Amino acid sequence: MGAYSILLVDDEPELLEVCQETLSDDGHRVRTASNGLEALAVLQGGGVDLVVSDLRMPRLDGLGLIRKVAELGLEVEIIFLTGYGTVENAVECLKLGAADYLLKPFDIDQLRAAVHKALAEREMKLEQKKIGNLVRMLNLSQALTERKDMRGLVREFLDQVRKAFEPEGIAMFFSADLGPGLSQSIQIGPFFKRAESRAWFAELSASLLRQGRPKLLDPATMSQALGQNLGDMARVSAMAAPVAAGLAGSGVVAALRGPSRPAYTLTDLQLFTVFASHASSCFESFSACSRLQDMNEEIVTSFVNAVEAKDTYTGGHSARVSAYARRLGQALSLTSAEITLLDRAGTLHDIGKIGVPDQILNKPSTLTEEERLVIRRHPAMGREILAKVSSLAEILPVIASHHERFDGSGYPSGLAGTDIPLASRIISVVDGYEAMTSTRSYHRARSREEALAILDAGANAQWDSDLVRVWRRVCLEAEGD
Ligand SMILES: [Fe+2]
Repeated sequence: MGAYSILLVDDEPELLEVCQETLSDDGHRVRTASNGLEALAVLQGGGVDLVVSDLRMPRLDGLGLIRKVAELGLEVEIIFLTGYGTVENAVECLKLGAADYLLKPFDIDQLRAAVHKALAEREMKLEQKKIGNLVRMLNLSQALTERKDMRGLVREFLDQVRKAFEPEGIAMFFSADLGPGLSQSIQIGPFFKRAESRAWFAELSASLLRQGRPKLLDPATMSQALGQNLGDMARVSAMAAPVAAGLAGSGVVAALRGPSRPAYTLTDLQLFTVFASHASSCFESFSACSRLQDMNEEIVTSFVNAVEAKDTYTGGHSARVSAYARRLGQALSLTSAEITLLDRAGTLHDIGKIGVPDQILNKPSTLTEEERLVIRRHPAMGREILAKVSSLAEILPVIASHHERFDGSGYPSGLAGTDIPLASRIISVVDGYEAMTSTRSYHRARSREEALAILDAGANAQWDSDLVRVWRRVCLEAEGD
């Protein structure tokens, strides 16, 4: 066993001397105190592994000492020395978390054995805590990597902080906007309901952002800082750590506990800081990815605009197909991920037309067979163009199949029925409807009723009849609005 720091507490100097000599001979660093209050002052300075204390002492007795230790959340082992008549109190101390007690008078070897046992147990407890912390970190990692948007990421992070540190209040602040639905400042718990508390957090965040370091605040400091305005409510222990969120700037996260719970310790702050820096890397890589995705989408949008600029009659077609597809998707109770896919596929379905010559695209008269074949290449061409953008992989089959027909007579593959992806069948219905209800080079705009009648007539041949039926309902409901 290595060397430990031991504090001996007793009001009998002779006993202190004998015990100090023995335990020092065993290689430990031994300090002494003559009562509970003195001992507490040493313990608050930190670095003590084990306390061997008398139960009956002036100023603060053993029972008072162990209660204080629990209240302050000090992680230290305690062995009590007890005389005849105080055994009941010693048992009470065991219930409060003491490691052991020795009945006075005791043999010095009994003391050495008790010290050895308590320190071995402490070692084990610390090891277990390390493993526990590792598990908490792994949970955090896993939970964060499963999140697909910044809002979910922040929420998951706060949730993991709650599980790992059991705070009574959490606050988070960012120097810049993190995106839709996310305020720059998040505050949870009754402490933050008071304007003074929020102002305190804002001030702390600003100062920690400047310094870029974590901070532990004990109840005494907090009480001094806020007691005038908050009274007893200010007696909280708090810890705060900086977080970075990539392009969205940097921020601070804080957790706090009221007086009824053990105060946060330096060990807690250490893990809290690791949590914050791990979350920072997740926020940063997410932020970089979304920037890349935004860039991709900007490029894609400029492609869509280029297609629409080629065809003088289809201005806004893609945007309307996308909006209609969303509405049909919602009426079919699809998931939000499926609806997002429909939205994108709707916007991009005709992107392959970029490869169709303008004179064919805008030809007012009937197309020749050759021209028809050129037009028919646009779904496959769209898939080829978009295959270069990895974030759009999911919509490739939808785009490739948007001109398949339910009876199998469509192109490019002649797929039939439910072999055609659902999203393609949906796009096909709303694409047809949009084309019929807007003016094209080869026809005038038809009325809603005319268009719905044509869809009905083509149900089961060109279109999925179930989808045509739901789309009719969607259109009639919109009319009723
Ligand atoms: Fe098309």
